[in-house]
Amino acid sequence: MKHSVVVNGAFGRMGTAAVNAINLHSGLTLIGSLGKEHDLNRELLRLKPDIVVDLTHAEFGPLNTEIILQAGCRPVIGTSGFTEENVRRLEAIARQVGRGGIIAPNFSIGAVLMMKYAREISRYFSNVEIVETHHEKKLDAPSGTALKTAEMIAQVRGEHEISPRALNIARDSLLGAQGAEHAGVKIHSLRLPGHLAHQKVIFGAPGEALTVQHDAISRECYMPGICFACEHVMETTTLIYGLEHIF
Ligand SMILES: NC(=O)c1ccc[n+]([C@@H]2O[C@H](COP(=O)([O-])OP(=O)(O)OC[C@H]3O[C@@H](n4cnc5c(N)ncnc54)[C@H](OP(=O)(O)O)[C@@H]3O)[C@@H](O)[C@H]2O)c1
Repeated sequence: MKHSVVVNGAFGRMGTAAVNAINLHSGLTLIGSLGKEHDLNRELLRLKPDIVVDLTHAEFGPLNTEIILQAGCRPVIGTSGFTEENVRRLEAIARQVGRGGIIAPNFSIGAVLMMKYAREISRYFSNVEIVETHHEKKLDAPSGTALKTAEMIAQVRGEHEISPRALNIARDSLLGAQGAEHAGVKIHSLRLPGHLAHQKVIFGAPGEALTVQHDAISRECYMPGICFACEHVMETTTLIYGLEHIF
């Protein structure tokens, strides 16, 4: 049986690519393409899709996810900018309505592996910083992937820290010179034309350095993950945050 899908943010860069990928997928039927001008709740009550893929703007991600769950649909969310608090709240709503969903800070298999290996390495290297580079039209900073990577590193750091983190004695003589901090990990965000989406997770220890790097060179890399999430979301009864839980 084919699952019906609505794409919200369908006229943006990611949305346009997702519409094409869903149209080519034999198990999915696109029944609606929504943009800013549509009332999401009203359209979902009218179209009644099984799944809603949201690729809009960080400002709207959490509210859209709630609207999708309350409208009786399953959310597949690629929009960035979710905080841990947003996720906890949406997990509770998913439990309440008895329907699962997926929030994926990154749909690319390579990026998910980069995050997984970074988490693993941080069991052994306690000093780490993240540098992410995106195209100049990306509206939010840091990226959802960088935030999620920092959270994944923080999860294992607490349990497995093998040496105390080196005391960072450097002081910024220029505000922001050492980046921002999330979950105890420094993040540096670059926004430049000529780049799509890149992340380096840089580890350092006395006498050695180790870097895990992912480069998205075309939006094509996100499409298998979007379609995979659409298939999987029909089987889950919980809200999953991160494709590493299902890949
Ligand atoms: N998870 C992943 O793997 C992944 C990968 C890449 C990007 N992303 C994220 O995906 C999102 C979209 O990225 P993009 O590069 O496609 O951005 P984009 O080109 O700016 O597309 C966003 C689209 O959503 C529309 N929009 C904004 N607010 C909306 C709302 N409330 N309801 C419906 N539509 C709305 C925008 O309309 P206007 O242009 O009129 O504002 C635009 O058409 C961003 O959050 C980005 O960070 C995720």
